[in-house]
Amino acid sequence: MIMDDTTIVPVPATAKADASCTAEQYRTAYARSLDESEAFWLSQAGRIDWMKKPTVAGNWKFAPKVDIKWFEDGQLNACWNCVDRHAIATPDRMAIISEPDDPDAAVRRIDYRTLKSDVARFANVLKEMGVSRGDRVTIYMPMIAEAVYAMLACARIGAVHSVVFGGFSPEALRGRIEGCDSRFVITADAGRRGGKSIALKANVDAALDGGPSADAVLVVRVTGEPVTMTPGRDRWYHEALESVDDDCPCAPMNAEDPLFILYTSGSTGKPKGVVHTTGGYMVWTASTFAHAFDYREDDLFFCTADVGWITGHSYVAYGPLANGATQLIFEGVPNHPDESRFWQIVEKHKVSILYTAPTAIRALMREGDAPVTKHDRSSLRILGTVGEPINPEAWRWYHRVVGDGQVPVVDTWWQTETGGIMLTTLPGAHDMKPGWAGLPMFGVKPLIVDNDGRPLDGEAEGNLCISESWPGQARSVYGDHARFHQTYFSTYEGLYFTGDGAKRDADGYYRITGRVDDVINVSGHRMGTAEVESALVLHGDVAEAAVVGYPHDIKGQGIYCYVTPNAGVAMTSELEAELRAHVRKEIGPVATPDHIHLTAALPKTRSGKIMRRILRKIAGGESDSLGDTSTLADPNVVDALIAGCKA
Ligand code: WTA
Repeated sequence: MIMDDTTIVPVPATAKADASCTAEQYRTAYARSLDESEAFWLSQAGRIDWMKKPTVAGNWKFAPKVDIKWFEDGQLNACWNCVDRHAIATPDRMAIISEPDDPDAAVRRIDYRTLKSDVARFANVLKEMGVSRGDRVTIYMPMIAEAVYAMLACARIGAVHSVVFGGFSPEALRGRIEGCDSRFVITADAGRRGGKSIALKANVDAALDGGPSADAVLVVRVTGEPVTMTPGRDRWYHEALESVDDDCPCAPMNAEDPLFILYTSGSTGKPKGVVHTTGGYMVWTASTFAHAFDYREDDLFFCTADVGWITGHSYVAYGPLANGATQLIFEGVPNHPDESRFWQIVEKHKVSILYTAPTAIRALMREGDAPVTKHDRSSLRILGTVGEPINPEAWRWYHRVVGDGQVPVVDTWWQTETGGIMLTTLPGAHDMKPGWAGLPMFGVKPLIVDNDGRPLDGEAEGNLCISESWPGQARSVYGDHARFHQTYFSTYEGLYFTGDGAKRDADGYYRITGRVDDVINVSGHRMGTAEVESALVLHGDVAEAAVVGYPHDIKGQGIYCYVTPNAGVAMTSELEAELRAHVRKEIGPVATPDHIHLTAALPKTRSGKIMRRILRKIAGGESDSLGDTSTLADPNVVDALIAGCKA
């Protein structure tokens, strides 16, 4: 991957002529968003309906102990903002167009009137199940409209949702149910993806078996395959609907009441339940959606992310609907029944904004141009990417082939913790640089610091921090505010540390160089190497494990596991296969190791610390540039590892 290409790709003339925000307007508004932050955000808050209007915007500090509040005297309801107000203003406008996994199956079209009635009935079902304000509700669903309904229904009655991606195992699901003391689970009999069935309900049963006790499990019928229903606990959604009506008021919530918890991986320990609250998050997602995608009323927005990730929260469930937009959701995968599936969907529905991930772009690029060019893509107006650094080659292909060189590409950098887009170019306003995310969003003040925390000016490379709070920022880690402080605000006192490395060029554009901590990014999915290590050492034959990422052509990074078996255990390919299956069982298919490297020893310092830097180099095929190895306790270990390297 060539990463240092800084060729400028100018804004296409049509996009420039049509832009609702010019480069000059961006500069003025950006300066105002920082210099007059209070007034700027109180005016942005006007994108949202408030039951009680806030009179203050930000009230926050990052040190000595982090405490973040936005719009704190305001009251609102997120579901009202995404549903009811549009059901009143534009009841016939489509809210969700749901494209099934099987291209020949029926498309569902849900207008705002129907959305309101369906979500209100869903919310009444939740109430009947015993869910009340503040309760945590775990959602483990396929990418169907009911997944979005479930989230909005929770928001409607003030319950806090915790969505768990369907690719996580029962073990991982159990941890996330226990982690937030959730007593309610919403799932489906099974999900459909790429022609295969995913046994979601069976996974929920396994997660709850002998583990946390749930008061109620609500099951949406999707595939119709047989499932076990536990009497007194499990109920079918379609049956529950029979006894409810669609009259369900939206609960008035304080701006700082939690809206959701989303588990994400960090460098140490178990995944953290990142907490987002209502007011700031809604203002942030509504405003970033409108700006980054230069949203127009006649757009059809298609974000390919699953609701199990933050992108599916901010740019499927909340951002587009808060703007009253029409969006397409897709149950399936990009390469089923063949590699033209995305482009076939674009043509069929006339998608105007497509938002996807570099891993999908790279996988589709490999199939050549024909699957793309055989479909009409003239409806496309904006292309977006998110989730991991995009290599310039993939960026160019996306721009040249998918967008015929006519469509602006926005490379949006952000994180679960940031709630929404933080760095991007604005379509129509800013020239693009392949591989560079671009400029800060309104209200975002990035800072590049060296390893001692000294801010670097001008062109620079270092650790990416943000020095001022923004409305969409996460407020805490569920049940462990000290961990929130420790993880994000203690590395560099007074700054939010992103965990990413970045470069800034002379034009003020930022390029993300990747994580500088022990988090890896596999196909756009965040994975803590420590999590995979803990899963490996749970296996009875494993003495020690060290996991690192290595460059992977399609996935961005692959998972490379060095494993030392217990004494007397044979290092066989059967053991490798067993360990791979073991990690899948413990965490889920998303964490399947690419390589298991069995080794008699790991490189350690004399004080016994594993030298990960060396392991990363060997896995990445850079064993000729290992750097300083003089602190190794036993240099022979390294030679043996290089000889056995599998990548
Ligand atoms: C990476 C996903 C480069 C980054 C929204 C970040 C990116 C992590 C980009 C967050 C991008 C996300 N360019 N890297 N445009 N977008 N990342 O929490 O390392 O799943 O810290 O949020 O993904 O992943 P998360």
